[in-house]
Amino acid sequence: MKTAITELFGIEHPIIQGGMHWVGFAEMAAAVSNAGGLGIITAVTQRTSENLANEIARCREMTDKPFGVNLTFLPSVTPPDYPGFVKAIIDGGVKIVETAGNNPKRWLPPLKEAGIKVIHKCTAVRHALSAEAAGVDALSIDGFECAGHPGEDDIPNMILLPLAARKLKVPFVASGGMGTGAQLVAALALGAEGINMGTRFIATKEAPVHENVKRAIVAATELDTRLIMRPLRNTERVLTNAGVERLLEKEKALGSKIVFEDIVPEVAGVYPKVMKDGDMDAGAWSCGLVASLIDDIPTARELIDRIMRDAEHITRRRLTGLFDGAHAPANTLA
Ligand SMILES: Cc1cc2nc3c(=O)[nH]c(=O)nc-3n(C[C@H](O)[C@H](O)[C@H](O)COP(=O)(O)O)c2cc1C
Repeated sequence: MKTAITELFGIEHPIIQGGMHWVGFAEMAAAVSNAGGLGIITAVTQRTSENLANEIARCREMTDKPFGVNLTFLPSVTPPDYPGFVKAIIDGGVKIVETAGNNPKRWLPPLKEAGIKVIHKCTAVRHALSAEAAGVDALSIDGFECAGHPGEDDIPNMILLPLAARKLKVPFVASGGMGTGAQLVAALALGAEGINMGTRFIATKEAPVHENVKRAIVAATELDTRLIMRPLRNTERVLTNAGVERLLEKEKALGSKIVFEDIVPEVAGVYPKVMKDGDMDAGAWSCGLVASLIDDIPTARELIDRIMRDAEHITRRRLTGLFDGAHAPANTLA
């Protein structure tokens, strides 16, 4: 399939693996890129620019296909070495960057000068428009269904994507809740040029995380994610567990008096405990509603091939057929 996104990034399929803290290592990015999608390494997990440079070099050894690096700009007491990260990206010859968390304007000049294409991920059309005005090449429109930070507007993709299609000039992908070929077709119908997935890629063979994490995603239903940190206006969608329920109790008890320090035990340093050690009650980690649609752990290639096969089948057999008077029942399709 050719779309504005496959052409922009030089990839085979319009499927991107979004940056993921403690998941987006070289193994994950290379597996997705080797399968014809766009894999992305997460810079903040690497902590230093030297580590990031090594991770980029490791990824290059595992794939000769395009891959990207995610730069997440979040408020932090001691911000990561962003200038060092940008230098490691440029020196490492990476040609695609996914930005998120804040307007990437400040970082665009050096990236653009190095010929790097930038896709910015955001959860509101107004933010997408400012990133577009700042000069990004593409956008990743992250709906309320998404894992991680959905923003504070709570607009699901069924509305957010057509709104984006009305306003944006640069191509965009649908992010949040994506995991199947049917959803890819829906996203394309709503104006997107592809999809971005996080949660779905964690439940793949190559995802470098503990098996408990993959099993938890497979077991999760649509009722198992929670929104935390809403009173702090830093909402995050996570999978429920003992730590998360404890955090929510604190939010209820403290109301508007809650401050970040109150929830540090449930949110700080949790990722390595979950992703590396498989301690599933350690605290809050991002997980999307799409977990409810995930019931297996395929390889990244099997997953991407299935999505593309189903998308083609749905388009050719069901959608085109409807106009020709041939009725293929929807429930026989993915
Ligand atoms: C475990 C996990 C960690 C994530 N960490 C980051 C991150 O560090 N930076 C970022 O921009 N997005 C992060 N995301 C969000 C994903 O890149 C992607 O936007 C999101 O997962 C899309 O929603 P989905 O999970 O429904 O596919 C994370 C997602 C997950 C599941």
